[in-house]
Amino acid sequence: MSELVKIENLKVYYPIKSGFFDRVTDNVKAVDDVSLTIETGKTYGLVGESGSGKTTIGKVLVGLENPTSGKISFEGQVVTTIKQKKAINYNKDVQMIFQDSQSSLNPRKTIGDIISEPLRSFGVPGKIGAGYDGQRSFEQDKINARVLELLDIVGLPARTVTQYPFQFSGGQRQRIGVARALATNPKLIVADEPVSALDLSVQAQVLNFMKKIQRDYNISFLFISHDLGVVRYMTDNIAIMHNGRFVEIGTTEDIFDNAKHIFTKRLLSAIPSLDVKKREENRAERKRVEREFVQYKNDYYQQIGSYMRAYDLESISETHFVAIKKGEN
Ligand SMILES: Nc1ncnc2c1ncn2[C@@H]1O[C@H](COP(=O)(O)OP(=O)(O)OP(=O)(O)O)[C@@H](O)[C@H]1O
Ligand SMILES: [Mg+2]
Repeated sequence: MSELVKIENLKVYYPIKSGFFDRVTDNVKAVDDVSLTIETGKTYGLVGESGSGKTTIGKVLVGLENPTSGKISFEGQVVTTIKQKKAINYNKDVQMIFQDSQSSLNPRKTIGDIISEPLRSFGVPGKIGAGYDGQRSFEQDKINARVLELLDIVGLPARTVTQYPFQFSGGQRQRIGVARALATNPKLIVADEPVSALDLSVQAQVLNFMKKIQRDYNISFLFISHDLGVVRYMTDNIAIMHNGRFVEIGTTEDIFDNAKHIFTKRLLSAIPSLDVKKREENRAERKRVEREFVQYKNDYYQQIGSYMRAYDLESISETHFVAIKKGEN
């Protein structure tokens, strides 16, 4: 197993200004000291409620935002800042898929133009797949052929190449986003809530197809979602986030079969059951977990004013880490 990305002690603070002089009076700690290693070809889930800092981690990882402090390495090279990332053409290796494909696809460009853009910038790789590092071609014929190949991979007919984003459904637009991300031969794709704007039936299709691509081309995935149920299906490992901190990290089994942090338990109890008979049971379980949360939160969080700061992670097995008060496990 090899290490692709290493995030160490990442912090992203946004200043809060107030008063007549617009002085910085405080910071929003969007991401507050998190560390995570992403291994080649593996899938990771980043789960947490709204505002917990998930997108901020994604943005720093792909180079849309600079961190306040911390370190990010990619295949051993330091790529903490946007400048460092640009210097090594990092964007060809790390791509992002957004929740809102409507606004992430330029409405004035055809699908052909949208997908050929990264091919024109970084060249057409000889072969599609995360491991391929060989020669890239900039010939127009090769670009055109690859655009059609990518459309085919994401299940869109060749004729759509001349169409515009508004002529597609939400699910199809997500496919276009994937084709564009795939064009550079990325080693890592960060998918930020890629299905949450879609109908349930379409969600399943898009998830299946992303999973297939992940496997076929051995791409590492960081899958961001507020929905643990969705993430379970997609990932090998999961990090649970709350208030800018990781409260629990483990394999997908660790999280689902052996959750330790009360916040994780709370998220698990919120997964809706498809079985109607179980709904009453689930409601009782949710209430029980909620009471447990209130009763034991001091074992899991330092109370700083009204802000609940999770403790540092403690290891409870080789793969499983939980934020608990030292000496509690
Ligand atoms: N540019 C910014 N300026 C100031 N504060 C910001 C900025 N971007 C994000 N924040 C704040 O940082 C925190 C984390 O935001 P982030 O978008 O990462 O959350 P999230 O987990 O992705 O939430 P959601 O599930 O709603 O997408 C929030 O409190 C947000 O208001
Ligand atoms: Mg977000």
